[in-house]
Amino acid sequence: MEIEYLKDEGLFRLTAGDTEYVIGIADGKYIGHVYYGRKIKDSQCGYLMRTEEAPFVPSSNLREKCSFADAFPAEYSTWGMGDYRDSCLNVRSSNGFRGCELHYEDYRIFRGKPELPGMPATFCREDDNGSGMTLELICRDEVLGLKVILRYSVFEDSSVVIRSTELVNEGKNPMYLERVLTACLDMDMEEGDLLTLGGSWARERHMVRRPLAFGKQIVSSFRGESGHQDHPFLAVMSRNAGQDQGEVYAMHFVYSGNFLAEAEMSQFGSVRLLMGIHPEGFEWVLNPGDTFVTPEVVCVYSDQGLGKMTHIFHDLYRRHLIRSSYLHKKRPILINNWEATYFNFDTEKLLEIAREAKKRGIEMLVMDDGWFGERNTDEGSLGDWQVNEKKLPGGLNYLVQQVRALGMEFGIWFEPEMVSPDSNLYRTHPDWAVRIPEREPVQSRAQYVLDLSRPEVVDYVYESVARILRSAPISYVKWDMNRQMSDIGSAYLGKEHQGELFHRYILGVYELQERLTREFPELLLENCASGGARFDPGMLYYSPQIWCSDDTDAIERLAIQEGTSLLYPLGTIGAHVSACPNHIVGRVTPFETRGHVAMAGTFGYELDITKLSEEEKQMVEEQVKMVHRFQPLIQEGDYYRIASWQENHRYDSWQVVSKDKTEALFTYIQVLAQPNWHSRKILLKGLNPEVRYQLEQIRQNKTGSGETFTGKVYKGSLLMYGGLLIPRMEGDFTSVMIHLHALKK
Ligand code: GLA
Repeated sequence: MEIEYLKDEGLFRLTAGDTEYVIGIADGKYIGHVYYGRKIKDSQCGYLMRTEEAPFVPSSNLREKCSFADAFPAEYSTWGMGDYRDSCLNVRSSNGFRGCELHYEDYRIFRGKPELPGMPATFCREDDNGSGMTLELICRDEVLGLKVILRYSVFEDSSVVIRSTELVNEGKNPMYLERVLTACLDMDMEEGDLLTLGGSWARERHMVRRPLAFGKQIVSSFRGESGHQDHPFLAVMSRNAGQDQGEVYAMHFVYSGNFLAEAEMSQFGSVRLLMGIHPEGFEWVLNPGDTFVTPEVVCVYSDQGLGKMTHIFHDLYRRHLIRSSYLHKKRPILINNWEATYFNFDTEKLLEIAREAKKRGIEMLVMDDGWFGERNTDEGSLGDWQVNEKKLPGGLNYLVQQVRALGMEFGIWFEPEMVSPDSNLYRTHPDWAVRIPEREPVQSRAQYVLDLSRPEVVDYVYESVARILRSAPISYVKWDMNRQMSDIGSAYLGKEHQGELFHRYILGVYELQERLTREFPELLLENCASGGARFDPGMLYYSPQIWCSDDTDAIERLAIQEGTSLLYPLGTIGAHVSACPNHIVGRVTPFETRGHVAMAGTFGYELDITKLSEEEKQMVEEQVKMVHRFQPLIQEGDYYRIASWQENHRYDSWQVVSKDKTEALFTYIQVLAQPNWHSRKILLKGLNPEVRYQLEQIRQNKTGSGETFTGKVYKGSLLMYGGLLIPRMEGDFTSVMIHLHALKK
């Protein structure tokens, strides 16, 4: 890790891991992007900005400044002054004029990395390996009186560049930020592919790959949350890029609200990547002396395909983003009553589930939606966070004490950001909901969103949650958020500030989670939003695990978890075994397969264990033991994607290898059985080629071929280059799990 200013060449060079990011100053003023990629370690690279190629540089040819601006590889593009590609920044002056041009003024290089006020951000660790450095490029628009600081940070142990931007009004008049993205990345790329993650409720984060094309390709959200449909991530990559080869440039947004991620191919075949808060519905009033800071963007470059990109993201998030004390701790194996009972439960039913769960080794009972107010359906009571003693006679404390007396921990569900029209809270404070005063607000799941731009609402919400947590020994909270925002209006913000509501809402969410994790540092917090609509790096800063999807079907989960694990470590991915036929797709899959798939996540159950057969209950016991044995490896190891059934339509496979390569866990799912087919050769990954590994097949039932890998010993090189032969198995949705353990010479 290093950040240098090369004075003679007028270049800034950031070195992070095996990558280099170079910034230049053109014509003494314009901050340009020179290079991002493998280390070149040569200070002659400034010509890559092409300022000498065409006679368009403003100082020598002011007449053609527009041609300069429209082709220059900008580090932070601005709107309205000759660059017609999409920009990062558009400002309206108090006179109503739009346009902004930033000129370089100064720089600062320092050790460490500043926090972002009120927002999640990657951070340095105390140890040497976790240290970091920051470059600040200070620039200014004299006419507006606007100072802009472009911030770049690198870490000792990571090949990432983290970007954020700060704007300060140093003028005498207010100005209006109509568009303020975090970063752009201009590069030469005449052809390549674009990779994004997309889907819907119950189909989150499927990988979507398409050719990069002329013009603009966008993924975005203005739903008030990062969303099920798009994810705040994009990557451009060479055509030949795959798991292990090819170039990949990726950007990921550490934010949970509206976002824009865009790739624009220009008339000259260059590509501009943009990422930041979605400008739709956004306007921020920057009064004299005010500062606005953007959320941060993580930039990753990989010269060895998606696999290396994945490792960089996983290691970064484990070391520099997740703050929870649970990061490296074993997570309790939980059972959640949602799919078991929905709203139809009482203390006795929950205890019945808890008693059977305890017998089988499960460690925590989580009480989901329906324990408060009059909530027996999803029609009402959100906002009325008082325990429903008709369902829970003796109150919450009695239930928690009974569960704890069994030797289990207790967790609880909240949806704190919402209010039902049918609730005491809404009847008392209709103006606390996000809504446009003259309009009948749009309902979704019979609920409205609370206006978290309003401090008293944040306080009410916080106290509602904290009061319950103070009332009983509760170890875990599932923090849910089950609708997207509409009717963007706040009775609290004045008419000039309505464009700030989306962002202020998310700042309110962050404040709530900050307060919660500060007051209850030992609480295990799991975020959730109708399944995985707010699975993003912003939420990961507060909660070490996030519910990945309401779709718990093992086969549907393959694509969802594949896309999610492209960026997120397995230990962050909420995954549970549920009952069959599956409640969402009606599919019946073997209990063993459901266990193997959920084990590529935090692991738990989402079913009525009292209704399982004795054979299944015994399988629960075995799975619990497997989780105890393998969870450290799954949480801390390197994840390798081996095969994707989304691509091959037959089978899926992945592997986790310990950092020291002495241990690995391999999973193979035969999605569809094939007739008249021989065994399938699978090449393992990430092993030490020189070491011999002993195999142990982790099996639960007799769905496999009857053959076993247990006891076999193979060299790492053979398993990786020659392959392992996985026999054809009887039946669809069958699976094999193999543990590999390195033998000492
Ligand atoms: C959301 C969550 C579910 C469950 C329900 C309860 O859909 O994703 O897991 O908690 O809410 O209403």
